[in-house]
Amino acid sequence: MAQSAETQEPLNVTEELLKWTNSTISTMMLGEAEEVRDIARDVLKIFGEYSITDFIGPLKIFKKFGSYEQRIDAIFNKYDPIIEKVIKKRQEIVNKRRSGEIKEGEENVVFLDTLLEIAQDETMEIKITKEQIKGLVVDFFSAGTDSTAVATEWTLAELINNPRVLNKAREEVESVVGKDRLVEESDVQNLPYIRAIVKEAFRLHPPLPVVKRKCTEECEINGYVIPEGALILFNVWQVGRDPKYWEKPLEFRPERFLENSSEGEAASIDLRGQHFQLLPFGSGRRMCPGANLATAGMATLLASIIQCFDLQVPGAHGQILKGDDAKVSMEERPGLTVPRAHNLICVPLARAAKLISS
Ligand code: HEM
Repeated sequence: MAQSAETQEPLNVTEELLKWTNSTISTMMLGEAEEVRDIARDVLKIFGEYSITDFIGPLKIFKKFGSYEQRIDAIFNKYDPIIEKVIKKRQEIVNKRRSGEIKEGEENVVFLDTLLEIAQDETMEIKITKEQIKGLVVDFFSAGTDSTAVATEWTLAELINNPRVLNKAREEVESVVGKDRLVEESDVQNLPYIRAIVKEAFRLHPPLPVVKRKCTEECEINGYVIPEGALILFNVWQVGRDPKYWEKPLEFRPERFLENSSEGEAASIDLRGQHFQLLPFGSGRRMCPGANLATAGMATLLASIIQCFDLQVPGAHGQILKGDDAKVSMEERPGLTVPRAHNLICVPLARAAKLISS
């Protein structure tokens, strides 16, 4: 973004956000961020589709010949050797740490190290295999990267289209953090308006619009009998826009989540899965384990972008659009996550050269 601000070249913010989530999550999980970059996109693309053989029973015998199944095999063949290589490298580090060759604090402990240690622990009641470790790595990767990038992009798009909210957020960041240092994650607890912006973006644009459950026993809800075994799809997206639960639901108005404010009619609603009108991270035992990580990371990144840059919207001929013309499209694209239909392209304008260079 800093480079693009210097050259005044348009920047594909969508791609940059995906690079950010990829490198953050893979560094935390695997200790590196190189070859695993495209796993999430490839895996999610195929998750969002379905195989006709799963729905028409007699076709099951053709399963292994279908193009869907063949593409799953291709993804496996592409990424399995990469994950194998990373596991081998981390296993060596775990062994060296154990033998004392690597001292405490010399090498960061990453999520994969912990899984490998658990796998080797003879006292564990439940054994975890290498295949399961690979599955968990891909699971966290595909669950965490695209969703966080998509959510951050929607929030930036809302800020571009709502200059009033952007200015208010900037005032908050400048009054709490000042102009002499870059915002840090520990500042977020003192930035209620930024946190409210994140919530409001999740309400209107939950990256995973549907949460699934299987009914374990027959029950009745509002006069409808739900049979045992039925697959229930809970439409988080629709409930987030339902006028029964939200005042002026289509307006982007973070104030609704502000505590101690006359406008904060929804201030008591949080993202922890207990308020069913706002469930971007699901609810209950299978609720997203990355909710805190994602919201804290998003709030910090948004606050630092707000502090350092103005995101200008270029027109079809590269000219910078102004006023009401400087709006970005809010059209959605279908998929397992719901991203914006078009890449977010901006020309960043630096506001705080000193902070950017720091
Ligand atoms: C804005 C970002 C994110 C959103 C909107 C999101 C949303 C969700 C949702 C709706 C579920 C299903 C919950 C349910 O069925 O009740 C889920 C599951 C999951 N998420 Fe996230 N997530 C995000 C970020 C992350 C991150 C950063 C990680 C980890 C690094 C992560 C890891 C997972 C995992 C492992 C599951 C499966 C949990 C299980 O099945 O028990 N997510 N997420």
